[in-house]
Amino acid sequence: MHFDPYSPELHEDPYPVYRALRDEHPAYHNEELAFWAISRHADVRAALLDPETYCSGQGIAVGLGDLPQSGAGGAPMLIMMDGPRHTRMRAIVSRAFTPRRIAGLEPRIRELTRELLDAWRDEEEVDFVRGLSGPLPTVVIAELLGIPRDDHAWFKRKSTEVAEFDPARIRAREDPAERRLEPVIELGRYLAERLAERRSRPRDDLLSALLAAEIDGEKLTEVETVGFAFLLLVAGNETTTNLLSNSAIQLDRWPDERRKLVADPRLVPRAVEECLRFDSPVQGLARTLTRDVELHGAALPKGDKVLLLFASANRDERRFPDAERFDVTRDPNPHLAFGLGAHFCLGASLARLEARVALEELLARHPDYRLCEGPIARIRSGPLRGALRLPIRLAA
Ligand code: HEM
Repeated sequence: MHFDPYSPELHEDPYPVYRALRDEHPAYHNEELAFWAISRHADVRAALLDPETYCSGQGIAVGLGDLPQSGAGGAPMLIMMDGPRHTRMRAIVSRAFTPRRIAGLEPRIRELTRELLDAWRDEEEVDFVRGLSGPLPTVVIAELLGIPRDDHAWFKRKSTEVAEFDPARIRAREDPAERRLEPVIELGRYLAERLAERRSRPRDDLLSALLAAEIDGEKLTEVETVGFAFLLLVAGNETTTNLLSNSAIQLDRWPDERRKLVADPRLVPRAVEECLRFDSPVQGLARTLTRDVELHGAALPKGDKVLLLFASANRDERRFPDAERFDVTRDPNPHLAFGLGAHFCLGASLARLEARVALEELLARHPDYRLCEGPIARIRSGPLRGALRLPIRLAA
């Protein structure tokens, strides 16, 4: 069989392909793009919990060949660090990115959600992405970082461009200078400017907190701080947008499950976990092997890339009873949509909070919304799964 995570056909419905991988090729090798893919829950989990063998420092995407895999114009990013360097940086940023800071955002997130839904008041049909799932996470992160309001739209555009990671398109650019992922550089430069402002005049925002955060007298360097702020944008924006859109899609496809939520909104947190499991916003990320590994009879050599397919692990019937069923009451739900172990998503609590508030407010106002007919315009990105546009009908 052939599995290419960048193929547009796969984006239509990757799940039968993942099933075939799990059942027939649990250690799949793609020679052309030079990577392995592992797809069973037990294997993906074990790899996530063994960062010494499955390391992140040489990039977390597959099939890029000679293209750069760095952060904001070369700034190191937490998600692509290993060992003590990763531990140290994660400890420092955790000082600024605290559960308290996140939980404190709930009233503002609800207010923003209501404002966005207010704009639907006289509409029968709206684009869910433009009207809710796109702007909400961007505004939340931008406000958290302390980015001026006038820059929010530019910000969203740039982070979408960065997230739309299509190696073929980047390679096809004629001018080699253009191949350097220019939106990455623009964003990095922009963040460096905002940080310089905070350094001379600290404020009550995350950028200022990042500049102040320290462990044993050690602080982040300038370039590390830019790298981290940049990572929050690319790791937090598009992913949360896709979680909201994918949730809206599943709640349309499973009306009985939606009715349970409308009848009892206390189920929403569990429903959010089920949305994360059933149609994971991040389908998979890669590691590089630091030693030879044997898996399901295959010999995976040191230095090779291995794609960890979270989205497949989350549908693995070896781990989840009735894995192909979307069940808003599922409990326990040990999905791997946020990864696990050393690199477990730092923004998981923020993503969960935004999704809970958005679903609560959406279902309270529009319990009978329906997706408009027609194929869903999918984002074209290897690791991410979501919709570019999602027209929905509000009136019955
Ligand atoms: C539904 C939304 C989200 C999903 C599905 C998601 C998924 C993930 C996954 C799978 C990882 C692990 C990466 C790896 O193991 O290589 C990760 C890491 C990370 N995420 Fe998220 N994420 C989401 C939202 C957010 C948000 C809102 C933020 C921040 C505002 C964020 C910040 C981060 C950071 C900083 C890391 C790197 C942690 C580290 O390397 O130590 N994420 N995320």
